[in-house]
Amino acid sequence: MKITDIAEGTYQLSIDVENILFEGLWDIPKGVTLNSYIIKGEKTAIVDGVCGWDGVPESLFSLLKELDIEPASIKYLIVNHVEPDHSGWIEAFKKINNDFQILCSKKGKELLGAFYGLTENITVVGDKDSFDLGKGHVLSFAEIPNVHWPDTIGTFDHGTEVLFTCDAFGSFGKCDGRIYAEEFSKEELKEYEEETLRYYSNIVATFSPQVKSAIRKIREIPAKLIAPGHGLMWKDTKTIIDAYDDYADYQKGPAREEITLIWGSMYGMTETAVKHALKVLEKEDITLHVHRVPEDSWGTVLTSVWTSTGVILAMPTYEFKMFPPMSAVLEEIGKKKALNRKVFRFGSYGWSGGAERELADINTRLNMGWEFLEPVEFAGVPGEENLQKIESQIKELVKQVKEAVKNK
Ligand code: FEO
Repeated sequence: MKITDIAEGTYQLSIDVENILFEGLWDIPKGVTLNSYIIKGEKTAIVDGVCGWDGVPESLFSLLKELDIEPASIKYLIVNHVEPDHSGWIEAFKKINNDFQILCSKKGKELLGAFYGLTENITVVGDKDSFDLGKGHVLSFAEIPNVHWPDTIGTFDHGTEVLFTCDAFGSFGKCDGRIYAEEFSKEELKEYEEETLRYYSNIVATFSPQVKSAIRKIREIPAKLIAPGHGLMWKDTKTIIDAYDDYADYQKGPAREEITLIWGSMYGMTETAVKHALKVLEKEDITLHVHRVPEDSWGTVLTSVWTSTGVILAMPTYEFKMFPPMSAVLEEIGKKKALNRKVFRFGSYGWSGGAERELADINTRLNMGWEFLEPVEFAGVPGEENLQKIESQIKELVKQVKEAVKNK
């Protein structure tokens, strides 16, 4: 747990977390930093929950005392978003201080009832409201629904010009004790962006149209610091806002001049063709991501697909359907709405095909809008003719990706 004075009367509590599946399903190989904030005016408020304690009320009490905060002095909990990674501490807090008011959105109030049975001492706030904590800390609120849940709001402190955005502008990736993006070198920020993209594509991506609306609203707020619930804070607010704006645009495509090759193989027949495809792709001037399923996780594959305009799928037919780990990952990509990609598929079959049929079904059922080049399917091992066709289709795909990005 690290506590840092970030502005007058304003403190960030942050903790690095590793070896968890985020939301119980997303692997986060580089961990995540969780943040909460304390604003001390004449009254004290906690924003986005207290992270990093063991869940026991007594140790939460000790932690607050360590921070020189009398738990009984905390009169306001600002719940920007009810997902339990930010609100799960409230039940324990009630055991050490049961005299507080919660500020949250109308939808947040409903969710607090559903998750914790909390129905009293809740003040609903929205775009037109403000709240004075004293000593210049006048708060206003911005409704930014669906970034990430429908309850989400941002909280802006007019005194310090800090904007607390909870999930919006967050990232995976441990910060290792650093708290501002400005503390990272250019190279480190580039690596960190991979984790921001992982976070965006895995957690927020479905709601990209709502992210666009939120960004329009947030650009009007004169924030000098963006303080999210996950990851680094940004003094250069424009950089992270612009990045999120781009990520939201990637949903409909075209995205970047990149191709993601996702492949799986049972006995090496499809793999033989993949090896040939990789040789072809090595000679092309295009950024390539390669993932094998089921070895690589959904989240990792999705992160690459999110920024890619082109996708190559290589998998065999399995019992009249697609190789199962491929259909599982494509279902998730479809649900996150990575739309309108340019796609080429090849793969092996034994006694009958079927993968193509299921692929077409997923594309139609999830309204993915993926445009397919003619596939290459082969019985058993790929022949020379199959490999030549794969080569020409890959070259065509690269051409189409480049044109799409150029013309967007
Ligand atoms: Fe970080 Fe949607 O909770």
